[in-house]
Amino acid sequence: MAKKCTVPAVRDRKVARGGDPLVMLTAYDAPGARMVDRAGADMILVGDSVAMVVLGYDDTLQVTVEDIAHHTAAVARTHPSALVIADMPWMSYHVSTADTVNNAAMLIRAGAQAVKLEGGRRRIPMIEALVAAEIPVMGHIGLTPQSVHAMGGYKVQGRDVEAALDLVDAAKALAHAGCFSIVLEGVPAPVAAMVTEAVEVSTIGIGAGPDCDGQVLVFHDVLGLEQRVLPKFVRRYAGLFDLGVAALTEFAGDVRSGEFPDAAECYRLDDGAADALGLYGAA
Ligand code: KIV
Repeated sequence: MAKKCTVPAVRDRKVARGGDPLVMLTAYDAPGARMVDRAGADMILVGDSVAMVVLGYDDTLQVTVEDIAHHTAAVARTHPSALVIADMPWMSYHVSTADTVNNAAMLIRAGAQAVKLEGGRRRIPMIEALVAAEIPVMGHIGLTPQSVHAMGGYKVQGRDVEAALDLVDAAKALAHAGCFSIVLEGVPAPVAAMVTEAVEVSTIGIGAGPDCDGQVLVFHDVLGLEQRVLPKFVRRYAGLFDLGVAALTEFAGDVRSGEFPDAAECYRLDDGAADALGLYGAA
C-alpha cells in the first residue's frame, strides 16, 4: 500500500524546488475513490462539483454540508492513501467564523483530512479560524464557481494587469493566513505561473496552464462519464458513458431475447427437491 499523503507533504511540494507535480482528482463515492487511489493520485477532492456531475443540478450552489459529508464519508470508508479534501459548500463559510468552523468540523468528522473553500481576502477571518481549530485549509481563487452569479457566468479571471496582480496578492494573503495549498481555476497560464512563484505553498491548477505545482480535474470529465459541453482545459482519457450505454443496451437485449440469465447464472435446488416438488426435469 502507498504511503498516506499528508497536508505538510502537499504544502511543501513545489515543482521549482524539484518536487513532482501533485495529482488531484475528484471522487464522490467508494468505487470512484478506489479508482482514483489505485491510479496513484496524491489527493481526492470531494468537490461540490458533485452537484452537477452526480446529483444533476445546474450549478454547484445547491449542495449542503450534509450532502458533502455524506459523499466524504463514502470516500473515507475506502481508507485511501490519497489525502481526502472536502469542499465547503456555498453559504457554509460565509456567515460567521463560528458557523465556518462547525461546518468544517462536520466534514472532518465525516472523514476528510482538510477542507477547501473559494474566495480571496474576504475569506481570511474564516481561514484563520479554521487553522486555529487545527483544520487544514486549501484555498481556491480565480474562477470560483460558487460566485457564478456575481461573476456573470463562468468567466476566466485575471486577464488584465490589475486583475492579475490582484490574484497574486490574494494568493499571498491566503498563504499568509495559513492555507496549505491553493487551487487556481480559470486563469491565464502566465498569471498562474506568477502566483506559483509568489507563494511558498503548492498551487493546483485547473484551466490554469502547466506552471502550477499540480493539476486537478473532475472524475466524470476525465473518464468521459459526462455528456455536457466540456471546458477547453479538460482532457478526456476515456469514453465511459458510451461504453456504459453499449453494455447496458446489450443487457436489455439479452433480457428481451431470453438469453439472460442462462443456466450458469441460476441457483440449483437441493438433490431430490425437484422430484419432491413435482418439478420433473428441473435441477
Ligand atoms: O468541486 C470541484 O470539483 C472543484 C475542482 C474542480 C477544483 O472545486
